[in-house]
Amino acid sequence: MPGTVVVGLQYGDEGKGKIIDSLADRADAVVRFQGGANAGHTVQVGDDLYAFHLLPSGVLRRRTMNLIAAGVVVEPGQLLKEIDDTRARGHPVTNLRISDRAHVVMPYHKILDGLEEKLKGNLAAGTTLRGIGPAFEDKVGRFGIRMCDLIDPDVLRAKLEKIVPIKQRVIDAFGGTDRLDVEAIFRDHVAYGERLAPFVTDTAAWLDAALKRKKRILFEGAQGTHLCIDHGLYPFGTSSDCVAGAASVGAGVGPRHLSDILGVAKAFTSRVGAGPFPTEQEGEIAEHLRERGGGEYGTTTHRPRRVGWLDLVMLRMSVRVNGLTGLAVTKLDVLAGLDRVKVAVGYRAGGSAVKEFPASMRILSTCEPVYREFRGWPEMSEAEWIATARKGRRALPEAARKYLAFIETSLKTPIRIASVGRSRAATIGR
Ligand code: IMP
Ligand code: MG
Repeated sequence: MPGTVVVGLQYGDEGKGKIIDSLADRADAVVRFQGGANAGHTVQVGDDLYAFHLLPSGVLRRRTMNLIAAGVVVEPGQLLKEIDDTRARGHPVTNLRISDRAHVVMPYHKILDGLEEKLKGNLAAGTTLRGIGPAFEDKVGRFGIRMCDLIDPDVLRAKLEKIVPIKQRVIDAFGGTDRLDVEAIFRDHVAYGERLAPFVTDTAAWLDAALKRKKRILFEGAQGTHLCIDHGLYPFGTSSDCVAGAASVGAGVGPRHLSDILGVAKAFTSRVGAGPFPTEQEGEIAEHLRERGGGEYGTTTHRPRRVGWLDLVMLRMSVRVNGLTGLAVTKLDVLAGLDRVKVAVGYRAGGSAVKEFPASMRILSTCEPVYREFRGWPEMSEAEWIATARKGRRALPEAARKYLAFIETSLKTPIRIASVGRSRAATIGR
C-alpha cells in the first residue's frame, strides 16, 4: 500500500479472492477495475463461503469502501442479487460505490454471447455466457449504455430506442430467435437504475481524494494475465485487460499510484474454457489436482477445470507484463500426496527451444514442455496445515520449501504469501 494491485498470473481462479481478503483488513478501499460478472471470487469467513461475481471482495468489512470502477461491465440484475443475498446474510452493503462511467451488460449481450460462441466453432473460448464479450464490443463500438444512462430514464429510453432495433438485426443475422422488447427492457432497467442510483458516483474522483489523504487502496484484479485481451491467449481469453496496468486505466488513477504489484499463481495450472495448454494432465494426476483442489470447478460456470503442472514459461511472461514486486503462491496443499511434482521450465517446438511464451496459438499447440521434477511432500490434515502456517514458511515440509525456493529463483521475484488451505488461518506471510 498505498496502491497495491493484485492480479492473477495464470488463467484466473488462482485464489485471488482469498489473498485480497487477507490484505483487505489493512485497506481503506478495494477497487474492481476490469471484467464483470464472469469473475467468481470466493471469500471464506469462518465457515461461511461467499461467491462474488461483481461485488469487490472487501464488501464484508464494514470500514472498507468498495468501488466498482469504470473499467468494469456491470450486469445490474446480477449486482442487485449479490447485494440482496449479502444483506440477507447480515452485511449492510452500504460500503459500495459504482462508477457512473461503468458500462452496463444488457440482456441482448447475453443472447449475443451464446450466438457468437456457436458461430465461432473451434475459435470459441468457452465463455461464461455472461455477455461480457458483447458488452465490451459495444463499449468500444460506442453502442454502450453506461451507469450514468441507466439512472437517467430519458437518456435510457432514447438510447434503447436507437440501439435495441440494431441489436435485433444482429441477433436475426446471427440466426437467433429471441425477440427484443424495448418497452420491457426499459421497464426492467429503470427499476434497476432506481435501486442502484444511490451507489452511483464518480469513483475516480473519490479515489483521487482518498489517495490525497494517503488512504491505502487495494486494486482487485479479475481473471488472469493469460486471459488478458492484449497479452493473453487470443482468442481464448476474456474481453478486458487483466494485467496490472489495467488498474490505472480502469480505475482512473495515474500509474504512479500503483506502487506494489502482487501476482497470484496457483502451485499448479488450471483453466476453464478452450485453448492450447502445454502442461495439461489427464488421468491420475488430473484427478488428484481436481479432487484435492476441491474447488477445481469454475466458480461462475461450475464446469470442471482443466488442470496441469506449473508452467514457468507462462509465469515468466506474467512477471514481466505486470512488473511484479511480489508473488503469492496458492494451493500448495493440493499438490501434497504426489510422489513427484513437475514444473515446466521451458518449451521445445519443432526441435528447438522456445524462449518466450508464443503469441501464435498454432505454435503454442506444438510446444512440448521441458520439465524439472521435484520430490513430493506428504499430505496433512487441514488442522496440521493451519498449525504449519502459523509457524511460517520454515515449518513447511522440506520438499515444499524447495519447490517454493525454485519458483522464487526462477521468477526472480520474492514469494510474499503462500496459501496452504481455504481458511484465512492457512496463510503464510502477509
Ligand atoms: P468470458 O470472459 O465470459 O468472455 O470468457 C472468456 C474466457 O475466459 C473463457 O474461457 C472463460 O472460461 C474464461 N474466464 C472468464 N472469466 C473467468 C474467471 O474469472 N476465472 C476463470 N476463467 C474465466
Ligand atoms: Mg474465480
